[in-house]
Amino acid sequence: MIKKPLILGIESSCDETAASVITQNEQNIPIILSNIISSQIDIHKEFGGVVPELAARSHIEKIDLIVEKAIKDSGIQIENLDAIASTAGPGLIVCLSVGLGFGKALAISLNKPFIAVNHLEGHALSPKLNCKLDYPYLLLLISGGHSQYLSVEGLGKYKRLGTTIDDALGEAFDKTAKILGIEFPGGPQVEILASKGNPRKFELPKPIFNKGGCNLSFAGLKTAVLRISKDLKSTQDKYDLAASFQKTIEEILYKKTQIAFKEFEKVNKIKADKFVVAGGVAANSNIRKMLINLCKENAITPIFPKQELCGDNAAMIAMVGLEKFKKGEFSELSHPAIPRWPLDENAIFLKGAGVKL
Ligand code: KG4
Ligand code: ZN
Repeated sequence: MIKKPLILGIESSCDETAASVITQNEQNIPIILSNIISSQIDIHKEFGGVVPELAARSHIEKIDLIVEKAIKDSGIQIENLDAIASTAGPGLIVCLSVGLGFGKALAISLNKPFIAVNHLEGHALSPKLNCKLDYPYLLLLISGGHSQYLSVEGLGKYKRLGTTIDDALGEAFDKTAKILGIEFPGGPQVEILASKGNPRKFELPKPIFNKGGCNLSFAGLKTAVLRISKDLKSTQDKYDLAASFQKTIEEILYKKTQIAFKEFEKVNKIKADKFVVAGGVAANSNIRKMLINLCKENAITPIFPKQELCGDNAAMIAMVGLEKFKKGEFSELSHPAIPRWPLDENAIFLKGAGVKL
């Protein structure tokens, strides 16, 4: 019998210290054997955002315990691992360095291959942890640092169809939360407030709604929320503003996703038959519901990672590690931490040139 690969994933790009062991069954379906995530919310709460040095210190204090627990919970012996995969970017360099250095050291000591993983590719492949997903597919990646429509054509093969020209969607949720006086990290709390409000109470702008293809923009929306927040008279007003903000996001994504369906078809010469939504904001149930309905209207299969795999985790890093391991794509031990590491090779050029609207 062929030995099933055992891959350890390590994640420390921001404020989650995480480790996970995955394998796959005879049908090549990935199986999560352990998935440990330690959040630093309590450390950063009083500062209203992630403080890089405090985050790095906490990663250093916890990483060995988290990896040890991931190995223990998986029920395997550490020497039976086949490869170690660590996030190498994008993210905070002081944080990335901890998981990257730890992964390399473990690979050296066990004499196993080391695999450097792009965190965004982790999000992009995260749905593969709970369903069969063949290339190509259309991906909407909505996290705290990124908001992009991508055509995913294979492992490491990404074409950007659209991107935010200012704030990321998660960032817009977090900033709105701050304006509404919600503690960090506010994104998930905005959803709770919104559920108690009237989404039609406030009219908010939809930047680049009628231009710019499937590019996105959220900065103007946030500024409008700030302006309106100064005149709020009651708690109900606050709920209504959260609901109006979330509804506006839904309307923007409803329209831009339809454009992305067409862009995908143009690029790949085939109709999109599945639509994958990944990243922290994919956990938002209203956005999920709206996108599922949109897919139904277009006879497209919607695919989301499991709720607990939307945010940062190491199982998704191990997932990329597993695919790379099977292709024999290993990394040099000199692989650097890369704070800015776009998935598609045109991204830096696009960024420098500004997105054409
Ligand atoms: O993917 P992720 O965990 O980390 C990054 O790679 O950025 O995404 C975190 C982002 C945060 O901005 C957080 O506020 C947002 O995802 N988020 C949500 C929800 N859950 C997390 N935004 C809206 N609704 C949610 N339920
Ligand atoms: Zn992430």
